[in-house]
Amino acid sequence: MTFHNGFATFQATKPSNYSLGRVFESRRRLLYKEGPHVSPVGFGSYRVGMSKHLGYPECAQALESALKKGINLIDTSSNYGYGQSEMLIGKTLTKLIQEGVIRRENIVVVSKVGYIQASNIELAKSKELQGNGFFEVSKFGEEIWHCIHPDFIFDQINRSLSRLGLETIDVYLLHNPEYMLKKFELEGMDVLNAKKLFYSRLKESFMALESLVLEGKIKAYGVSSNNLGAPDDEYASISIRTVHEIAKSISENHHFKVAQFPMNWLEVSPAFYDIDGTGESTLSYAQKNDIGVMLNRPFNAMFNDGLIRLSRPQVKKEEVEKLDEGMRLGLANWTKLATDLESLARDQLADVPGYDDATLSQFVVSTLAWYPGVTSVLCGIRKEVYVEDVEQALVRPALHRAREHLYRIYENLEFST
Ligand SMILES: NC(=O)c1ccc[n+]([C@@H]2O[C@H](COP(=O)([O-])OP(=O)(O)OC[C@H]3O[C@@H](n4cnc5c(N)ncnc54)[C@H](OP(=O)(O)O)[C@@H]3O)[C@@H](O)[C@H]2O)c1
Repeated sequence: MTFHNGFATFQATKPSNYSLGRVFESRRRLLYKEGPHVSPVGFGSYRVGMSKHLGYPECAQALESALKKGINLIDTSSNYGYGQSEMLIGKTLTKLIQEGVIRRENIVVVSKVGYIQASNIELAKSKELQGNGFFEVSKFGEEIWHCIHPDFIFDQINRSLSRLGLETIDVYLLHNPEYMLKKFELEGMDVLNAKKLFYSRLKESFMALESLVLEGKIKAYGVSSNNLGAPDDEYASISIRTVHEIAKSISENHHFKVAQFPMNWLEVSPAFYDIDGTGESTLSYAQKNDIGVMLNRPFNAMFNDGLIRLSRPQVKKEEVEKLDEGMRLGLANWTKLATDLESLARDQLADVPGYDDATLSQFVVSTLAWYPGVTSVLCGIRKEVYVEDVEQALVRPALHRAREHLYRIYENLEFST
């Protein structure tokens, strides 16, 4: 196994004179002060891996194409694709580095720790049997456990580095730490005690992450949570301000640099909800405090416990012919929804040139990527056509009034009523 040393740097990720025409590169932004620059769209790798049912080899080709086009942000986790996502990324990086297409210093690799699934669950169970199990594990049935205890972090970082073939991960995130709060809620703990215990454990995790920075295993860390930006009165909500204050209490020179959370046309609370009643949203807080923001699930909107796909179906004609009647009806409904949403967005952006023929996914990417405080939008672009599609979103003019556009689109969505 090849291990690549180094990490993404400010200088090596800066758009060069040659980036003209390569929008993913020319539109790069700084992730945090003195940190690397990242493309406004990142490669999300939740559903990629080395097996056919995870889209291999097409997903590897999509990643290669994304990197060649100047996408330089890759988001993964120990549990994505049953651990195969990190392996596929490692293989692809090695191939492109050896071919001289990219350098390690050009690419920002984000991975996460928290889930105990797949091979990790066997490991955790066998450690328990031997009497030296991981501490503070939250169990949700036989197959999903969760942990952010320092000892677990120290165990997992080496496994992720090895799967990725890297000596340093650029950004290491605690993955959905709200699982701990959910467990406390199930156990009937009162919310004030739950939050107190949660944030004190989070501080221990941050101290562990600081020590990984000192060791050179990671460059920066952060939190990825579905509940960052959720209303404070929700039991498992997490406040970006409190998380940031914890990092500052460890050191003024802390390395808490990045927050990741879902945001899309239906889930807008990180943009519009005031955190802690201060008049500040999660996004505006992050922007003012130099915290890089990665949005996830741009096209997968959760609504009333269901899922609405905010993209136009990309089904080939011959595939449509193979569908049964029910599936065809579903496809027709989805196509109609996409057409309606495209026409809504077109109306709202009528005075912005260059969007007349945008697809739904392109409208979504543009309104999110240009939203103030957003550094990058992570997209599940596991097919080359998806990479090309989002590229066309960024070719279009910058949306200087993205806040207003998103607000008006949200207000006019039928789902929002
Ligand atoms: N808690 C967390 O840390 C967390 C949670 C969620 C996501 N993430 C990260 O964020 C990334 C993005 O989220 P996601 O993959 O769940 O959802 P997404 O980006 O919203 O994409 C959802 C699905 O939309 C389809 N799609 C993607 N690009 C498209 C395009 N241009 N045109 C048409 N359809 C397109 C793909 O469907 P098919 O797969 O059916 O082809 C994709 O799986 C993840 O891959 C992961 O890296 C992190």
